[in-house]
Amino acid sequence: MQLHGWRRISFCGGLGLTVGVFVFTSTMALRAQGRGGGAPAGPVLVPLTAASLESHPDLYIGQTVAVTATVEKNLNGTAFTVDQDKTKSTKDVLVIAPNMTGTLDLNSYVTVIGEAVMFDPATVASKLKGYTLSLAPDVVEKYRGKPAILATSVINAAMTDLAKKVPPPMSPAEVEFSKVMKQVSPTFTALRQATEGSDAAAVKTKTADLKKFFTDTQAFFKTRGTADATGWAGDAAKLVADIETAGATGKWDAAKASATTLNTLCGTCHTAHRERLDDGTFRVK
Ligand code: HEC
Repeated sequence: MQLHGWRRISFCGGLGLTVGVFVFTSTMALRAQGRGGGAPAGPVLVPLTAASLESHPDLYIGQTVAVTATVEKNLNGTAFTVDQDKTKSTKDVLVIAPNMTGTLDLNSYVTVIGEAVMFDPATVASKLKGYTLSLAPDVVEKYRGKPAILATSVINAAMTDLAKKVPPPMSPAEVEFSKVMKQVSPTFTALRQATEGSDAAAVKTKTADLKKFFTDTQAFFKTRGTADATGWAGDAAKLVADIETAGATGKWDAAKASATTLNTLCGTCHTAHRERLDDGTFRVK
């Protein structure tokens, strides 16, 4: 019985110590960072409480913060306030989450991640392009000049990120085009191998496939009204035709040179019109 009690006390004490050390070191790191000491290379996530942000905004403005707090009030679909502790008289902090998709339960815990700013409608307009701040004038005045968070993540108690940007579904034409591009890549790799190996038969079949893919690509962009991409797809189809001719006549250096030019063209079009989403998939832009 005694041993059991001792063990329990020891366990609790150990846990308390660990938590204490963690809080201490992270606070020190925050202070050092906030005062510009040992500036880290990239953006660093700064964990803190709503009360710390409220009482020392100068340490955190412009930084990406992670604040765990309770939901005080839902102001509208994309703005709410959080409070450190509803039982104590701390001031609340405004959170603006442009991509918010759900509603938060009052007094529930949330972790809000985003840039800490001094709230001002002009600052919000310049940082969140395309976002309309629809707060009542008295609410704007209440939070003006106070620290606020422009949230990119709002994680509720169920660990769901309610502010995660959900990409719009692809149109049927985009789905078809994506299938084309997924085939372009291995076919082009095979074509380059065929030119390296002077394999006329393989060049013939691969160029036939690629011609069709780039004709489809051109039609896709033409329908969308994207002039530069329509032109590049046409150029790509021409380069494929050049490779076909060069292969058929045994001009392998010319075939390889055209393949290199085509490779550059892939990149040109991707830079202008391919977007990589957070989940690693690609979209037309
Ligand atoms: C005229 C513009 C254009 C050209 C030329 C072009 N692409 Fe693309 N490609 C796109 C766009 C836009 C996307 C994004 C759409 C998508 O993936 O759904 C894309 C996506 C891709 C993808 C990702 C597919 C996926 O969704 O996983 C690959 C791989 C790819 N292209 C390879 C190539 C290669 C290799 C070439 C050259 C031989 C090429 N592309 C030429 C416009 C182009």
